[in-house]
Amino acid sequence: MAQLQTGLSRRDFIKGAVAGGVGVLAVTPDYAWAQTLLSGRTAAEVQGTGIPKGIVRLSYNENPIGPSPMAIEAIMGHAHEVHRYHASTNTRNPEQFLARKLKRIHGVLADLNLRNPDDQKEAIRRQHIFVCHGSERILIAAVTKVLENGGGEVIEAAPAYGSVARTVGFLQSKGGAVEMVHVPLKAGNVHDLEAMQQAITDRTRLVIITNPNNPTGTLTPRDELERFIAAVPERVLIIIDEAYIHFAEPGYQDAMDLGLKHKNVLVSRTFSKVYGLAGMRIGYALGPPALFDYGFEFYAAKDWGSINRLAILAATAALDDKDHIRRSQETIWQGKRYLYEEFDKLGLSYTPTQSSFMVVDMKQPSTPIVARLREKNVFVRDADGPLGYVNLSNHIRISIGLMEENEAFITALKGALG
Ligand SMILES: Cc1ncc(COP(=O)(O)O)c(C=O)c1O
Repeated sequence: MAQLQTGLSRRDFIKGAVAGGVGVLAVTPDYAWAQTLLSGRTAAEVQGTGIPKGIVRLSYNENPIGPSPMAIEAIMGHAHEVHRYHASTNTRNPEQFLARKLKRIHGVLADLNLRNPDDQKEAIRRQHIFVCHGSERILIAAVTKVLENGGGEVIEAAPAYGSVARTVGFLQSKGGAVEMVHVPLKAGNVHDLEAMQQAITDRTRLVIITNPNNPTGTLTPRDELERFIAAVPERVLIIIDEAYIHFAEPGYQDAMDLGLKHKNVLVSRTFSKVYGLAGMRIGYALGPPALFDYGFEFYAAKDWGSINRLAILAATAALDDKDHIRRSQETIWQGKRYLYEEFDKLGLSYTPTQSSFMVVDMKQPSTPIVARLREKNVFVRDADGPLGYVNLSNHIRISIGLMEENEAFITALKGALG
């Protein structure tokens, strides 16, 4: 393809060939390649990270660039030790090390002098870091704990991440006295904190605010969050689920300081998203020390030394990998701008996102579209499907991927829309 060396772009060359009726496309050995240039990238050519070639998986909100290289190094470097329990004699307990590191990062003990006995007592009273097998287990444990002391109501937005409602449904199926109260998002698909506040009754035990929300990717303004916390009685635990907080555009202040300040606020985080460690199953919460008793640990399926040693070491390393964090964020921010442009061109409306996924209105039933995408090996979440979301009829949720994955999705979507 000598022409390609002349500065003519590949796409221009192919277009020219077609316009001139040369018929070059039919004879070139690069026919498939040429077709791609004209019709757009397809899943068949895409090699995502950690999945077989040809699959475009945009349905699980995974980190498209893969894990932190520093985390991989930590896993490889300690693989030979996995026959040992990690909290054994004469070895440093890596879980405690990680918890201490997280305390330092989040300033839990920043103003204390731990040589001073009074400060030591204060350190015990301060919010605690609870490391766990993924942050979903923290939500499950908090909901299950509602059953203690007579049960009660759990408030969450609708639509929201499904784990809380699933846990409530399961507990109810076993006769548990726990009720789910769903408060619809307001205009713009954002949390309606006023309505959530009004929904609080004497039986309310727990409120969950996913920030940014899943599936809408929307952020709750910080001042609204502060007002809400101030207005909610202290007997009600507020969970702020910050699984995707790193993907909020710079300038948004996370809720860790609110978690430190208020005795009824728990902030949960995961290593599954920006750190790219979903398969390692590790997350953590910063929250009131009294909450994390043996019962909570039990509901969270956590036992002495039960968190995978390699997961802990990988998480500890990933926290330091600023380059990986930045690349992960930039991939998402760049990807979303591309998707916005493409959705605009297609005349599809979407909710601007502050997360690593977004919801798009197909303006027609989404289930057949998702099925047609699946036939092209492109996987997205169907809001109308069994794993879908209330109040988002005709929408799909797409995780933002590598640029080639986003492009293959758009190519497939153009075909699927008909
Ligand atoms: C909003 C939200 N919270 C929590 C989780 C759970 O994450 P993990 O259990 O992998 O830490 C997810 C996973 O997708 C999520 O979307």
